[in-house]
Amino acid sequence: MSTRSSPDENLSPLSAPVIDALHRPMHDLRISLLDQCNFRCPYCMPEAEFHAEYEFLRKQERLSYDEIVRVAASASALGVSKIRLTGGEPLLDKNICDLVERIAALPRIDDLALTTNGMLLAPIAEKLARAGLHRVTVSLDSLDKEIFRTMSGGRGDLNAVLAGIEAAVAAGLGPIKINVVVQRGVNDSGVLDLLDHFRGTGIIVRLIEFMDVGNRNGWRLSQVIPSRELLAQIQKRWPLRAVGKNYPGEVARRYEYVDGAGEIGFISSVTAPFCGDCSRARLSADGKMYTCLFASQGTDLREPLRSGADDEELQQILTSIWLQRADRYSELRRPDIAEHHILRKVEMYRIGG
Ligand code: GTP
Ligand code: 5AD
Ligand code: SF4
Ligand code: SF4
Repeated sequence: MSTRSSPDENLSPLSAPVIDALHRPMHDLRISLLDQCNFRCPYCMPEAEFHAEYEFLRKQERLSYDEIVRVAASASALGVSKIRLTGGEPLLDKNICDLVERIAALPRIDDLALTTNGMLLAPIAEKLARAGLHRVTVSLDSLDKEIFRTMSGGRGDLNAVLAGIEAAVAAGLGPIKINVVVQRGVNDSGVLDLLDHFRGTGIIVRLIEFMDVGNRNGWRLSQVIPSRELLAQIQKRWPLRAVGKNYPGEVARRYEYVDGAGEIGFISSVTAPFCGDCSRARLSADGKMYTCLFASQGTDLREPLRSGADDEELQQILTSIWLQRADRYSELRRPDIAEHHILRKVEMYRIGG
């Protein structure tokens, strides 16, 4: 891991960890580097909406690396020790290794992960690892070429993603996780194949309930497969046993194959919400801090960053955002009315899930 850092980045002394209105600490920061993606997954960025004329953020509207590192350092002073880089697709940012190196060098960051669709991963995996990235999570919804292609909006190449996963294994970017969004009638029939493919490899597959994120993905409750239904189906083929959490606030419920072939996880935000110990803050590419995946608005940090706020002021802003936080969308969600998209919510590709 790299030890390079500028003195400024390491200055923030540890303040008292900040706790929100529901007694939850700020532990994770998820940083979206850009709102663009090389895929058009219909459940996230449907092509009809995100077409050639769609205006993504311009470079000057996005936070610079200096600005991102300042936010990350301030957050770490308030208790954040886990950072995830996301997008859109973060690997569209060609200089990402420079940012990884700077964030990895921050004191108190003990887990630095990246979520990617894997298309561009193979050529850069080794360099990411050398820059100090600890691990990657790859989104992969199906091993069926046609279904995969459809679920990536006609843009993905399954072999490139599989090569990316292999390169990540070779680079030591583990534990590697595969995120699978399961949609009834779309890719559910391929779940067992996916599990079979990764059994015994040390790669952890996580099956995610299709969520009503944003307002554009045409979410319908009828397309959600409750995790317990999948679990029952999987158990018939490979007996599983539940295992405990790796850390408080873990999103996935973990299971292991009784035959020793490894671990899988279920992310069940619709049928078994996990807001109670949610410790995740989300920074969008244009510098807004969101305290929930389903938030309708965030707090702008870009303006204070660009008008000279010092580290203490930045920490005060983050503290006041977190102190007021009382989000628990998934616990309050009424799936029957969520279909009607009554709330305006931030789009997933803006805050990276
Ligand atoms: P680990 O650090 O490996 O445990 O990963 P993670 O689960 O924190 O992060 P990841 O990005 O892999 O999350 C997987 C998926 O879970 C995301 O893509 C979202 O679909 C969902 N998810 C993550 N965090 C939240 C959350 O705070 N609320 C809800 N409702 N869903 C979340
Ligand atoms: N429901 C559940 N997961 C989603 N993701 C994107 N949109 C949704 C949704 N509507 C997942 C992606 C990726 C992660 C960033 O979020 O598959 O793994
Ligand atoms: Fe891109 Fe991920 Fe959204 Fe698919 S889910 S469009 S890969 S950001
Ligand atoms: Fe956290 Fe909001 Fe997800 Fe609940 S719905 S777990 S508060 S991000």
